[in-house]
Amino acid sequence: MSGSVRIGIVGSGFSAHFHLASYRKIHGAAFEVAAIAGRDRGKAAALAAQYGVARVLDDADALIADPAIDVVDLCVPNHLHVPLIMKAAAHGKHIICEKPLGGFFGPNGAPGDWSAEGFPRQAMFDAVIAQLGAVGEAVRKAGVTFCYAENWVYAPPIAKLNRLMAASGSTILRIEGEESHSGSHAAYSRHWRQAGGGSLLRLCVHPIGGALHIKYEEGRRRTGRPIRPVAVTCQVARLTDIASFRAEEPKHIVTGWQDVEDYASILVDFEDGSVAQLTSTDTRLGGIRNFLSAYGSRAVATANINPNTACQAYTPDGSYFDSEYIVEKTETKAGWSFPAPDEDMITGYPAELEDFVSSIAEGRAPKSDLMMAQDVLLLVYAGYLSAAERRTVDLRPYLQAR
Ligand SMILES: NC(=O)c1ccc[n+]([C@@H]2O[C@H](COP(=O)([O-])OP(=O)(O)OC[C@H]3O[C@@H](n4cnc5c(N)ncnc54)[C@H](O)[C@@H]3O)[C@@H](O)[C@H]2O)c1
Repeated sequence: MSGSVRIGIVGSGFSAHFHLASYRKIHGAAFEVAAIAGRDRGKAAALAAQYGVARVLDDADALIADPAIDVVDLCVPNHLHVPLIMKAAAHGKHIICEKPLGGFFGPNGAPGDWSAEGFPRQAMFDAVIAQLGAVGEAVRKAGVTFCYAENWVYAPPIAKLNRLMAASGSTILRIEGEESHSGSHAAYSRHWRQAGGGSLLRLCVHPIGGALHIKYEEGRRRTGRPIRPVAVTCQVARLTDIASFRAEEPKHIVTGWQDVEDYASILVDFEDGSVAQLTSTDTRLGGIRNFLSAYGSRAVATANINPNTACQAYTPDGSYFDSEYIVEKTETKAGWSFPAPDEDMITGYPAELEDFVSSIAEGRAPKSDLMMAQDVLLLVYAGYLSAAERRTVDLRPYLQAR
Protein backbone atom coordinates (compact mmCIF):
# COMPACT_ATOMS: atom_id res chain seq x y z
CA MET A 1 0.00 0.00 0.00
CA SER A 2 1.43 3.40 -0.90
CA GLY A 3 0.97 6.50 1.26
CA SER A 4 -0.44 6.82 4.73
CA VAL A 5 -2.84 4.15 6.05
CA ARG A 6 -6.19 5.87 6.73
CA ILE A 7 -8.11 4.30 9.60
CA GLY A 8 -11.78 4.75 10.47
CA ILE A 9 -13.01 3.68 13.92
CA VAL A 10 -16.54 2.36 14.42
CA GLY A 11 -17.75 2.77 18.01
CA SER A 12 -17.03 5.35 20.68
CA GLY A 13 -17.06 3.32 23.90
CA PHE A 14 -14.41 1.63 26.05
CA SER A 15 -12.43 -0.13 23.33
CA ALA A 16 -12.54 2.87 20.97
CA HIS A 17 -10.93 4.87 23.78
CA PHE A 18 -8.06 2.50 24.36
CA HIS A 19 -7.50 2.03 20.61
CA LEU A 20 -7.23 5.81 20.19
CA ALA A 21 -4.96 6.17 23.24
CA SER A 22 -2.77 3.33 21.92
CA TYR A 23 -2.55 4.64 18.32
CA ARG A 24 -0.87 7.70 19.88
CA LYS A 25 1.86 5.49 21.32
CA ILE A 26 2.94 3.82 18.08
CA HIS A 27 5.72 4.77 15.72
CA GLY A 28 6.93 3.47 12.40
CA ALA A 29 4.44 3.06 9.57
CA ALA A 30 2.73 6.22 8.36
CA PHE A 31 -0.95 6.25 9.34
CA GLU A 32 -3.74 8.49 10.53
CA VAL A 33 -7.01 7.92 12.34
CA ALA A 34 -9.09 9.78 9.79
CA ALA A 35 -12.68 9.34 11.04
CA ILE A 36 -14.97 7.98 13.75
CA ALA A 37 -18.56 6.77 13.48
CA GLY A 38 -20.60 5.75 16.51
CA ARG A 39 -24.26 5.12 17.20
CA ASP A 40 -24.19 8.14 19.48
CA ARG A 41 -22.90 11.03 17.38
CA GLY A 42 -22.31 13.24 20.44
CA LYS A 43 -20.02 10.67 22.06
CA ALA A 44 -18.20 10.09 18.77
CA ALA A 45 -17.70 13.85 18.36
CA ALA A 46 -16.36 14.15 21.92
CA LEU A 47 -13.90 11.33 21.31
CA ALA A 48 -12.84 12.85 17.98
CA ALA A 49 -12.18 16.18 19.72
CA GLN A 50 -10.22 14.49 22.53
CA TYR A 51 -7.93 12.64 20.11
CA GLY A 52 -7.80 15.13 17.23
CA VAL A 53 -9.72 13.02 14.70
CA ALA A 54 -10.79 15.28 11.82
CA ARG A 55 -14.09 13.72 10.74
CA VAL A 56 -17.16 12.29 12.52
CA LEU A 57 -19.36 10.24 10.20
CA ASP A 58 -23.06 9.42 10.60
CA ASP A 59 -22.86 5.67 10.97
CA ALA A 60 -20.86 2.52 10.29
CA ASP A 61 -22.23 2.22 6.73
CA ALA A 62 -21.04 5.74 5.83
CA LEU A 63 -17.59 5.03 7.23
CA ILE A 64 -17.28 1.69 5.43
CA ALA A 65 -18.33 3.25 2.12
CA ASP A 66 -16.03 6.28 2.47
CA PRO A 67 -13.36 6.26 -0.26
CA ALA A 68 -10.96 8.15 2.04
CA ILE A 69 -10.84 5.23 4.51
CA ASP A 70 -8.54 2.21 3.96
CA VAL A 71 -9.07 0.33 7.24
CA VAL A 72 -12.20 -0.17 9.32
CA ASP A 73 -11.40 -0.63 13.02
CA LEU A 74 -14.41 -2.33 14.67
CA CYS A 75 -14.84 -1.33 18.33
CA VAL A 76 -18.50 -2.32 18.55
CA PRO A 77 -20.45 -4.99 20.48
CA ASN A 78 -19.84 -8.61 19.53
CA HIS A 79 -23.07 -9.20 17.57
CA LEU A 80 -22.10 -6.46 15.10
CA HIS A 81 -18.66 -7.85 14.24
CA VAL A 82 -19.63 -10.31 11.49
CA PRO A 83 -22.21 -8.09 9.70
CA LEU A 84 -19.71 -5.20 9.62
CA ILE A 85 -16.80 -7.45 8.57
CA MET A 86 -18.89 -8.66 5.63
CA LYS A 87 -19.72 -5.08 4.59
CA ALA A 88 -16.13 -3.89 5.01
CA ALA A 89 -14.80 -6.79 2.92
CA ALA A 90 -17.40 -6.09 0.21
CA HIS A 91 -16.07 -2.51 0.05
CA GLY A 92 -12.47 -3.74 -0.17
CA LYS A 93 -11.49 -2.32 3.23
CA HIS A 94 -8.85 -3.82 5.47
CA ILE A 95 -10.29 -4.86 8.82
CA ILE A 96 -9.25 -4.59 12.45
CA CYS A 97 -11.76 -6.48 14.60
CA GLU A 98 -11.96 -6.54 18.38
CA LYS A 99 -12.32 -9.95 19.98
CA PRO A 100 -14.25 -12.20 19.45
CA LEU A 101 -14.59 -12.68 15.69
CA GLY A 102 -18.33 -13.35 16.04
CA GLY A 103 -20.64 -15.83 17.74
CA PHE A 104 -24.22 -17.02 18.02
CA PHE A 105 -26.73 -14.47 19.27
CA GLY A 106 -30.02 -16.34 18.83
CA PRO A 107 -31.85 -17.94 15.92
CA ASN A 108 -33.02 -15.75 13.04
CA GLY A 109 -36.06 -13.72 14.05
CA ALA A 110 -35.61 -14.55 17.75
CA PRO A 111 -37.57 -12.24 20.04
CA GLY A 112 -35.70 -9.64 22.12
CA ASP A 113 -36.18 -11.74 25.25
CA TRP A 114 -34.79 -14.93 23.64
CA SER A 115 -32.84 -17.00 26.18
CA ALA A 116 -29.99 -19.42 25.52
CA GLU A 117 -31.05 -21.52 28.51
CA GLY A 118 -31.82 -24.97 27.11
CA PHE A 119 -31.05 -23.95 23.51
CA PRO A 120 -29.14 -26.79 21.78
CA ARG A 121 -25.41 -26.11 21.74
CA GLN A 122 -25.07 -28.29 18.62
CA ALA A 123 -27.23 -25.78 16.70
CA MET A 124 -25.07 -22.92 17.99
CA PHE A 125 -21.91 -24.79 17.01
CA ASP A 126 -23.24 -25.50 13.50
CA ALA A 127 -24.19 -21.84 13.01
CA VAL A 128 -20.73 -20.71 14.11
CA ILE A 129 -19.02 -23.18 11.75
CA ALA A 130 -21.05 -21.69 8.88
CA GLN A 131 -20.15 -18.17 10.06
CA LEU A 132 -16.42 -18.98 10.17
CA GLY A 133 -16.56 -20.28 6.61
CA ALA A 134 -18.50 -17.26 5.34
CA VAL A 135 -16.13 -14.74 6.93
CA GLY A 136 -13.08 -16.61 5.63
CA GLU A 137 -14.47 -16.67 2.11
CA ALA A 138 -15.46 -12.98 2.14
CA VAL A 139 -12.06 -11.84 3.42
CA ARG A 140 -10.11 -14.03 1.00
CA LYS A 141 -12.27 -13.02 -1.97
CA ALA A 142 -11.79 -9.32 -1.14
CA GLY A 143 -8.02 -9.81 -0.76
CA VAL A 144 -7.95 -7.54 2.29
CA THR A 145 -5.85 -7.84 5.45
CA PHE A 146 -7.74 -9.09 8.49
CA CYS A 147 -6.34 -8.14 11.90
CA TYR A 148 -7.76 -9.88 14.95
CA ALA A 149 -7.34 -7.65 18.00
CA GLU A 150 -6.06 -10.29 20.43
CA ASN A 151 -3.75 -8.19 22.57
CA TRP A 152 -2.31 -11.20 24.46
CA VAL A 153 -0.35 -12.04 21.31
CA TYR A 154 1.44 -8.71 21.74
CA ALA A 155 1.53 -8.26 25.54
CA PRO A 156 5.24 -7.79 26.43
CA PRO A 157 5.29 -10.55 29.12
CA ILE A 158 3.89 -13.08 26.59
CA ALA A 159 6.22 -11.87 23.84
CA LYS A 160 9.12 -12.47 26.27
CA LEU A 161 7.79 -15.92 27.24
CA ASN A 162 7.60 -16.80 23.55
CA ARG A 163 11.20 -15.66 22.98
CA LEU A 164 12.38 -17.73 25.98
CA MET A 165 10.67 -20.82 24.56
CA ALA A 166 12.32 -20.10 21.19
CA ALA A 167 15.78 -19.40 22.68
CA SER A 168 15.71 -22.62 24.71
CA GLY A 169 14.47 -24.69 21.77
CA SER A 170 11.76 -26.02 24.09
CA THR A 171 8.96 -28.30 23.12
CA ILE A 172 6.02 -26.64 24.87
CA LEU A 173 4.47 -29.59 26.65
CA ARG A 174 1.78 -27.88 28.67
CA ILE A 175 0.22 -24.41 28.93
CA GLU A 176 -1.81 -22.97 31.74
CA GLY A 177 -3.59 -19.61 31.69
CA GLU A 178 -6.36 -17.51 33.11
CA GLU A 179 -8.23 -14.25 32.70
CA SER A 180 -10.56 -13.60 35.61
CA HIS A 181 -12.00 -10.74 37.63
CA SER A 182 -14.96 -10.00 39.88
CA GLY A 183 -17.42 -9.53 37.03
CA SER A 184 -18.21 -7.40 34.01
CA HIS A 185 -20.39 -4.38 34.74
CA ALA A 186 -21.55 -4.04 31.12
CA ALA A 187 -25.31 -4.57 30.92
CA TYR A 188 -25.02 -6.46 27.62
CA SER A 189 -22.83 -9.14 29.19
CA ARG A 190 -25.77 -10.53 31.24
CA HIS A 191 -27.57 -11.87 28.14
CA TRP A 192 -26.41 -14.38 25.54
CA ARG A 193 -28.54 -12.53 22.97
CA GLN A 194 -26.12 -9.57 23.10
CA ALA A 195 -22.92 -11.15 24.39
CA GLY A 196 -22.87 -14.48 22.52
CA GLY A 197 -21.85 -16.35 25.70
CA GLY A 198 -20.46 -15.75 29.18
CA SER A 199 -16.97 -15.88 30.72
CA LEU A 200 -15.73 -18.34 28.09
CA LEU A 201 -16.44 -16.00 25.17
CA ARG A 202 -15.84 -12.66 26.91
CA LEU A 203 -12.71 -13.50 28.92
CA CYS A 204 -11.23 -16.89 28.02
CA VAL A 205 -10.68 -15.84 24.41
CA HIS A 206 -7.57 -14.04 25.72
CA PRO A 207 -5.75 -17.01 27.30
CA ILE A 208 -6.97 -19.17 24.41
CA GLY A 209 -5.46 -16.68 21.95
CA GLY A 210 -2.23 -16.53 23.95
CA ALA A 211 -1.93 -20.33 24.10
CA LEU A 212 -2.64 -20.72 20.37
CA HIS A 213 -0.08 -18.05 19.56
CA ILE A 214 2.79 -19.75 21.37
CA LYS A 215 1.96 -23.15 19.84
CA TYR A 216 1.58 -21.61 16.35
CA GLU A 217 4.99 -19.95 16.78
CA GLU A 218 6.62 -23.15 18.03
CA GLY A 219 5.32 -24.99 14.97
CA ARG A 220 6.55 -22.27 12.61
CA ARG A 221 10.01 -22.46 14.18
CA ARG A 222 10.07 -26.23 13.94
CA THR A 223 8.47 -27.04 10.58
CA GLY A 224 7.32 -23.74 9.05
CA ARG A 225 3.67 -24.42 9.86
CA PRO A 226 1.61 -23.63 12.99
CA ILE A 227 0.68 -26.34 15.50
CA ARG A 228 -3.12 -26.24 15.56
CA PRO A 229 -5.65 -27.31 18.24
CA VAL A 230 -7.48 -30.59 17.54
CA ALA A 231 -9.85 -31.25 20.47
CA VAL A 232 -11.63 -29.49 23.34
CA THR A 233 -13.09 -30.57 26.68
CA CYS A 234 -14.88 -27.92 28.71
CA GLN A 235 -16.79 -27.24 31.93
CA VAL A 236 -18.99 -24.19 32.49
CA ALA A 237 -20.96 -23.14 35.58
CA ARG A 238 -22.82 -20.25 37.17
CA LEU A 239 -21.07 -20.04 40.53
CA THR A 240 -23.11 -17.02 41.63
CA ASP A 241 -26.19 -19.30 41.68
CA ILE A 242 -24.79 -21.27 44.63
CA ALA A 243 -27.46 -20.99 47.36
CA SER A 244 -25.12 -20.02 50.21
CA PHE A 245 -23.59 -17.25 48.08
CA ARG A 246 -27.03 -15.97 47.09
CA ALA A 247 -27.94 -15.68 50.76
CA GLU A 248 -24.80 -13.68 51.60
CA GLU A 249 -24.78 -9.90 52.04
CA PRO A 250 -22.95 -7.79 51.16
CA LYS A 251 -21.80 -9.17 47.83
CA HIS A 252 -18.43 -8.17 46.41
CA ILE A 253 -18.83 -10.14 43.20
CA VAL A 254 -21.01 -9.11 40.27
CA THR A 255 -24.33 -10.99 40.03
CA GLY A 256 -27.33 -10.92 37.72
CA TRP A 257 -26.13 -13.27 34.97
CA GLN A 258 -29.24 -14.31 33.04
CA ASP A 259 -28.49 -17.12 30.60
CA VAL A 260 -24.67 -16.99 30.54
CA GLU A 261 -21.98 -18.70 32.62
CA ASP A 262 -19.69 -16.91 35.07
CA TYR A 263 -17.06 -19.68 35.07
CA ALA A 264 -15.45 -21.74 32.31
CA SER A 265 -12.45 -24.02 32.14
CA ILE A 266 -11.29 -25.49 28.87
CA LEU A 267 -8.78 -28.25 28.09
CA VAL A 268 -7.23 -28.05 24.63
CA ASP A 269 -5.40 -30.87 22.82
CA PHE A 270 -2.91 -29.77 20.15
CA GLU A 271 -1.97 -31.80 17.09
CA ASP A 272 1.53 -32.56 18.47
CA GLY A 273 0.06 -34.08 21.65
CA SER A 274 0.66 -31.06 23.91
CA VAL A 275 -2.13 -29.63 26.08
CA ALA A 276 -3.48 -26.38 27.50
CA GLN A 277 -5.69 -25.74 30.53
CA LEU A 278 -7.34 -22.32 30.43
CA THR A 279 -9.81 -20.74 32.83
CA SER A 280 -11.94 -17.62 33.09
CA THR A 281 -14.32 -16.48 35.77
CA ASP A 282 -16.37 -13.41 36.63
CA THR A 283 -16.10 -14.38 40.30
CA ARG A 284 -12.48 -13.71 41.25
CA LEU A 285 -11.80 -11.10 43.92
CA GLY A 286 -8.55 -9.13 44.07
CA GLY A 287 -8.39 -7.29 40.74
CA ILE A 288 -7.93 -8.71 37.28
CA ARG A 289 -5.82 -11.90 37.04
CA ASN A 290 -4.26 -12.39 33.61
CA PHE A 291 -1.45 -14.89 33.21
CA LEU A 292 -0.07 -17.52 30.89
CA SER A 293 2.48 -20.19 31.85
CA ALA A 294 4.41 -22.39 29.45
CA TYR A 295 5.96 -25.61 30.69
CA GLY A 296 8.63 -26.38 28.13
CA SER A 297 11.09 -29.24 27.84
CA ARG A 298 14.05 -26.90 28.49
CA ALA A 299 12.47 -23.92 30.27
CA VAL A 300 9.40 -22.85 32.16
CA ALA A 301 8.03 -19.30 32.12
CA THR A 302 5.05 -17.43 33.50
CA ALA A 303 3.86 -14.21 31.88
CA ASN A 304 2.04 -12.09 34.45
CA ILE A 305 0.10 -9.43 32.59
CA ASN A 306 -1.86 -8.56 35.74
CA PRO A 307 -1.06 -8.40 38.55
CA ASN A 308 2.68 -8.02 38.30
CA THR A 309 5.21 -6.64 40.72
CA ALA A 310 6.52 -3.78 38.56
CA CYS A 311 5.04 -1.51 41.26
CA GLN A 312 3.77 -2.52 44.71
CA ALA A 313 2.03 -0.06 47.00
CA TYR A 314 0.36 0.13 50.37
CA THR A 315 -2.08 2.61 51.89
CA PRO A 316 -4.22 2.23 55.02
CA ASP A 317 -7.04 4.22 53.39
CA GLY A 318 -8.00 3.73 49.72
CA SER A 319 -9.25 7.31 49.45
CA TYR A 320 -5.63 8.54 49.53
CA PHE A 321 -5.28 7.04 46.03
CA ASP A 322 -8.56 8.53 44.74
CA SER A 323 -6.87 10.51 41.97
CA GLU A 324 -4.67 7.60 40.81
CA TYR A 325 -5.65 4.61 38.70
CA ILE A 326 -4.46 1.37 40.32
CA VAL A 327 -5.42 -1.66 38.22
CA GLU A 328 -8.46 -2.95 36.31
CA LYS A 329 -11.32 -4.29 38.44
CA THR A 330 -9.76 -3.98 41.87
CA GLU A 331 -12.45 -3.79 44.56
CA THR A 332 -10.43 -1.53 46.87
CA LYS A 333 -7.34 0.65 46.77
CA ALA A 334 -6.64 0.05 50.50
CA GLY A 335 -3.95 -2.33 51.73
CA TRP A 336 -1.24 -3.73 49.50
CA SER A 337 -1.85 -3.39 45.77
CA PHE A 338 -0.07 -3.87 42.44
CA PRO A 339 -0.58 -0.58 40.56
CA ALA A 340 -0.14 -0.96 36.80
CA PRO A 341 2.44 1.63 35.66
CA ASP A 342 1.13 1.53 32.06
CA GLU A 343 -1.78 -0.87 31.65
CA ASP A 344 -2.20 -0.29 27.90
CA MET A 345 1.45 -1.16 27.29
CA ILE A 346 1.58 -4.26 29.53
CA THR A 347 -1.72 -5.46 28.00
CA GLY A 348 -0.22 -5.19 24.51
CA TYR A 349 -2.52 -2.64 22.85
CA PRO A 350 0.09 -0.30 21.29
CA ALA A 351 2.26 -3.20 20.04
CA GLU A 352 -0.85 -4.85 18.58
CA LEU A 353 -1.97 -1.76 16.65
CA GLU A 354 1.60 -1.12 15.47
CA ASP A 355 1.72 -4.61 13.94
CA PHE A 356 -1.71 -4.08 12.35
CA VAL A 357 -0.79 -0.75 10.77
CA SER A 358 2.54 -2.07 9.46
CA SER A 359 1.06 -5.33 8.21
CA ILE A 360 -1.55 -3.40 6.21
CA ALA A 361 1.10 -0.98 4.87
CA GLU A 362 3.37 -3.89 3.90
CA GLY A 363 0.62 -6.18 2.58
CA ARG A 364 1.48 -9.05 4.93
CA ALA A 365 -0.56 -10.96 7.53
CA PRO A 366 -0.34 -9.66 11.11
CA LYS A 367 0.77 -11.95 13.96
CA SER A 368 -2.84 -12.13 15.16
CA ASP A 369 -4.66 -12.95 11.96
CA LEU A 370 -7.84 -14.49 10.59
CA MET A 371 -6.73 -18.07 11.38
CA MET A 372 -6.24 -17.11 15.02
CA ALA A 373 -9.67 -15.43 15.13
CA GLN A 374 -11.33 -18.48 13.58
CA ASP A 375 -9.54 -21.03 15.79
CA VAL A 376 -10.44 -19.11 18.96
CA LEU A 377 -14.14 -18.90 18.09
CA LEU A 378 -14.19 -22.55 17.06
CA LEU A 379 -12.65 -23.54 20.41
CA VAL A 380 -15.19 -21.47 22.35
CA TYR A 381 -18.27 -22.92 20.68
CA ALA A 382 -16.82 -26.43 20.69
CA GLY A 383 -16.33 -25.73 24.39
CA TYR A 384 -20.01 -24.92 24.85
CA LEU A 385 -20.93 -28.12 23.02
CA SER A 386 -18.48 -30.14 25.11
CA ALA A 387 -19.77 -28.71 28.39
CA ALA A 388 -23.42 -29.33 27.49
CA GLU A 389 -22.85 -32.90 26.29
CA ARG A 390 -20.07 -33.74 28.79
CA ARG A 391 -17.76 -35.01 26.06
CA THR A 392 -14.61 -34.13 24.18
CA VAL A 393 -15.24 -32.42 20.83
CA ASP A 394 -12.94 -33.32 17.92
CA LEU A 395 -12.09 -30.15 15.98
CA ARG A 396 -10.28 -31.72 13.04
CA PRO A 397 -13.28 -31.76 10.66
CA TYR A 398 -13.91 -28.06 11.29
CA LEU A 399 -10.52 -26.32 11.21
CA GLN A 400 -10.53 -23.64 8.53
CA ALA A 401 -7.71 -23.70 6.00
CA ARG A 402 -4.91 -21.21 6.66
N1 LIG B 1 -9.29 -6.54 23.77
C1 LIG B 1 -9.78 -6.15 24.92
O1 LIG B 1 -9.10 -6.18 25.94
C2 LIG B 1 -11.19 -5.66 24.97
C3 LIG B 1 -11.64 -4.97 26.11
C4 LIG B 1 -12.96 -4.50 26.10
C5 LIG B 1 -13.78 -4.72 25.02
N2 LIG B 1 -13.32 -5.39 23.95
C6 LIG B 1 -14.20 -5.66 22.79
O2 LIG B 1 -14.56 -4.43 22.20
C7 LIG B 1 -15.88 -4.52 21.66
C8 LIG B 1 -16.69 -3.34 22.15
O3 LIG B 1 -16.73 -3.37 23.56
P1 LIG B 1 -16.69 -2.01 24.40
O4 LIG B 1 -16.28 -2.41 25.79
O5 LIG B 1 -15.95 -0.97 23.68
O6 LIG B 1 -18.25 -1.66 24.41
P2 LIG B 1 -18.91 -0.24 24.68
O7 LIG B 1 -20.33 -0.50 24.98
O8 LIG B 1 -18.11 0.57 25.65
O9 LIG B 1 -18.79 0.49 23.25
C9 LIG B 1 -19.47 0.02 22.12
C10 LIG B 1 -19.66 1.16 21.16
O10 LIG B 1 -20.30 0.68 19.99
C11 LIG B 1 -21.27 1.65 19.59
N3 LIG B 1 -22.30 1.02 18.75
C12 LIG B 1 -23.26 0.16 19.12
N4 LIG B 1 -24.01 -0.17 18.05
C13 LIG B 1 -23.49 0.50 16.99
C14 LIG B 1 -23.82 0.57 15.63
N5 LIG B 1 -24.86 -0.10 15.13
N6 LIG B 1 -23.05 1.36 14.83
C15 LIG B 1 -22.02 2.07 15.31
N7 LIG B 1 -21.65 2.03 16.62
C16 LIG B 1 -22.39 1.26 17.44
C17 LIG B 1 -21.82 2.16 20.90
O11 LIG B 1 -22.47 3.41 20.73
C18 LIG B 1 -20.54 2.28 21.73
O12 LIG B 1 -19.91 3.51 21.46
C19 LIG B 1 -16.45 -5.86 22.08
O13 LIG B 1 -16.42 -6.73 21.00
C20 LIG B 1 -15.51 -6.33 23.18
O14 LIG B 1 -15.37 -7.74 23.19
C21 LIG B 1 -12.03 -5.85 23.91
